[in-house]
Amino acid sequence: MEAIAKAHTNIALIKYWGKRDETLFLPMNSSLSITLDRFYTTTAVQFCSCLNKDVFLLNGQIASEAETMKIVAFLDHVRNIAGKNMYAIVNSVNKVPTAAGFASSASGFAALAAAATKAIGMDTDNKTLSQIARQGSGSACRSIYGGYVEWQKGEEVDGSDSFAKPISDKQDWNLSVLSCLVASNEKKVLSREGMKRTVETSPFYKGWLDTVEKDLVQAKRAIAERDFEMLGTVVEANALKMHATTLGANPPFMYWQSATLEVMEHVQQLRTSGIEAYFTIDAGPNVKVICHQKDEQAVLEHLATLPSVQNVYLCHPGPGISYLPDT
Ligand code: DP6
Repeated sequence: MEAIAKAHTNIALIKYWGKRDETLFLPMNSSLSITLDRFYTTTAVQFCSCLNKDVFLLNGQIASEAETMKIVAFLDHVRNIAGKNMYAIVNSVNKVPTAAGFASSASGFAALAAAATKAIGMDTDNKTLSQIARQGSGSACRSIYGGYVEWQKGEEVDGSDSFAKPISDKQDWNLSVLSCLVASNEKKVLSREGMKRTVETSPFYKGWLDTVEKDLVQAKRAIAERDFEMLGTVVEANALKMHATTLGANPPFMYWQSATLEVMEHVQQLRTSGIEAYFTIDAGPNVKVICHQKDEQAVLEHLATLPSVQNVYLCHPGPGISYLPDT
């Protein structure tokens, strides 16, 4: 049977940075994200005993060997759980400007987890789906749900308590997220390699671990109370702390470019002029800016005029996983 699923990307407000188990994708710390309406992946999966290997089509073309290997490893995991050994055709379309350095692995593995489990005949609840998606890419476990989502790191060695869940009933706080494209070149250190190097070598990583759970509590409180200043302050500080750990790694590395700093400074200037806006940055040079919806046009206009900003994508909280009709 064929199944088609759609999943949206998410942006971490409190970052997942570091694994305690690389095989099971178990994080060192809990994290918190907003699922975004604008960027998503749609994936169709069909298992067939007629195939002698897995085939992966990405945006209409046969994917590279490296990309296909990641999908095969993930499908092996699904086959293992389902107790079936058929190969599959996976057809994935990204509505994410991947070339622009916006990550698609979260939406990609969330959509694949949903489509593959359904196509192989499993009846999977969202909690299990989140645990399965996690093992393709950690951040994918949060894209199973819409709105504001927490990934609890869990304590168990088998990962059974490490999954995402939506935060209470505050899904409807319609903040704006402006994704600023400042560079389209490939990132030098992928997040997987970057977090591993940081955990293993950065003396600043201890400082990260000592404070990140407190940041999470504050961010959750800010969302519950709809206190935007409290949320923005902790979100910005948490991103800066994550990036500080990379500077202490051996060898050191940084994701920022001069354009990244220009946007960061500009956002801080906006605040002095009375517009509440805060930034966050993932494992790359692009900057995401959060603000109230009433300010989004003003912030957009400011950011779009910066010479180093190539494009600004306006996003809002988006939905969780969905299945396309007839599957
Ligand atoms: C900085 O989920 O891409 O975006 O689990 O190795 O696939 P893997 O890493 P990934 O890392 C995301 C790191 C981050 C922060 C976040 O999204 O929480």
